[in-house]
Amino acid sequence: MAKLRWVRVCYLEDILEGTGVCAKVEGEQVAIFRLEGQLYALSNHDPFTRANVLSRGLLGNHGERRTVASPLLKHRFDLRSGECLDDPQVRLPTYAVRCEEGEVWVGVPVEEDEPVSI
Ligand code: FES
Repeated sequence: MAKLRWVRVCYLEDILEGTGVCAKVEGEQVAIFRLEGQLYALSNHDPFTRANVLSRGLLGNHGERRTVASPLLKHRFDLRSGECLDDPQVRLPTYAVRCEEGEVWVGVPVEEDEPVSI
């Protein structure tokens, strides 16, 4: 598994239940969602409209899967895998995310020989 560099993005209380926020992490726009006691992080970039809007998408369910629907064309993406539900050829990058002492951290992969700052 690739090593991760953990970047602190916000406080848990900054993310209301059932909504998302957007953070710039190492130059990438990342959407972080809080839903039913879980955190999810995936790209904020909607590949269908090329707009950075997914953090403002609507959260929902599709069977067992938790999804976010883009606020523009309503394409739905699996929060865990990033897969587009109706077009499995399309998959958003996903990120590791964790909460520690009320702070939310996003993990971005680093090259093996890159030092990891703590
Ligand atoms: S939901 Fe329509 S193409 Fe993804």
